[in-house]
Amino acid sequence: MKVLALNGSPRKTVSATHRILEALLAGMRDAGAETELVQLRDLDLRPCIGCYTCWVRTPGDCIHADGMAGAAAAMRQADLVIFGTPLYHYSMTGLMKTFLDRLLPEVQPWLVEDPRSPGLTTHPRRQEPRPQRAMLVSPCGFPEADHFRPLVDTFRYIAARHGWQWLGELLRPGAEPLSRSQLAPLFAGYLARVREAGAALVAEGRIPEPLVEALARDLFPGGRAAFHALANRYWQELQARHPAGASAAPLEEADLDPVDGPGVPCRTLVAGMAGAFDPRAAAGLEARIELRLGGAEPGIYHLAIGQGACRFVDGPATAPSLTIEAPSDVWAAISTGARDGRQALMEGAYRASGDFALLLRMGQLFARSAP
Ligand SMILES: Cc1cc2nc3c(=O)[nH]c(=O)nc-3n(C[C@H](O)[C@H](O)[C@H](O)COP(=O)(O)O)c2cc1C
Repeated sequence: MKVLALNGSPRKTVSATHRILEALLAGMRDAGAETELVQLRDLDLRPCIGCYTCWVRTPGDCIHADGMAGAAAAMRQADLVIFGTPLYHYSMTGLMKTFLDRLLPEVQPWLVEDPRSPGLTTHPRRQEPRPQRAMLVSPCGFPEADHFRPLVDTFRYIAARHGWQWLGELLRPGAEPLSRSQLAPLFAGYLARVREAGAALVAEGRIPEPLVEALARDLFPGGRAAFHALANRYWQELQARHPAGASAAPLEEADLDPVDGPGVPCRTLVAGMAGAFDPRAAAGLEARIELRLGGAEPGIYHLAIGQGACRFVDGPATAPSLTIEAPSDVWAAISTGARDGRQALMEGAYRASGDFALLLRMGQLFARSAP
């Protein structure tokens, strides 16, 4: 099976769409598929100007000499096309829309009744074969899946009109942190499931129901308020690093995804633990976990757990149940999943005092987003 994945995120490889597509395609290759991933931004696509030259003077050829002809040819050869687009204004990105518009030369001008959908009009295709199947991969910034409704309806309708068998959607709300390299270990569990889904799609033509459910679980089960607090803190910190008026230069890839640079501040990582908090693992728990961080990013914070929720608080806790003292780089590594917390404790990388049973529960309480 030949699979063509199109990444319509203008952020190309520093994008949640790319990370999900990569994992999905790896799974497809595990099951024997041949895969290709095209970054639509690299095609330098120019928008369709509606001149219809491709229907009249140069049948089948667009006036624009850019990467579209090659991508359209790859699409004709593919058995399965994966449309990858982040949610932009409740729909697809401009890049993806431009790609779809630019498929116009693929059809002839004639209006005919659609043999697959009697009662509806279509244009005959110029060339066969067409892709047999298609699916959608989409991340979005807001934490609720409801925002995907218009996008899903749009793609399902397009697929039906093109006669593509629709394999479904892989949707990921609250996905902005997925694009950060430093946080990659946190999402390893989720991406491993995406990979399994890729293999199942090739082997069985569908994602098995238990896997569908696992893939739909929240990456940040700590609730909407904790997610908002986490996201808003991220924007405050980015604004502080790039103050308004200091420069009008666009933020670079390295600003959005600092791999070698300052990374996500440790305070944000600790605050992020409230977003990753899993209330299912905390039935009846009332506790205060205090973090006393030293090293390059010193600070004292605590996490207040009660009534099935977890709140991040700047400053020490009164009567903490558990106190953790750690260098900030050690805690950063633990909270991003790059280092195992228990192992680090045994190695003496940090100290803990108070309720050790609570310390041992932290892996489950802060679910590491592993579905
Ligand atoms: C112009 C623009 C419009 C956006 N519109 C929405 C939106 O309607 N709903 C939403 O939840 N997120 C929206 N977002 C956020 C992106 O969907 C989110 O950051 C996503 O994870 C980006 O994916 P990427 O990393 O693959 O580019 C928008 C972002 C941009 C830049």
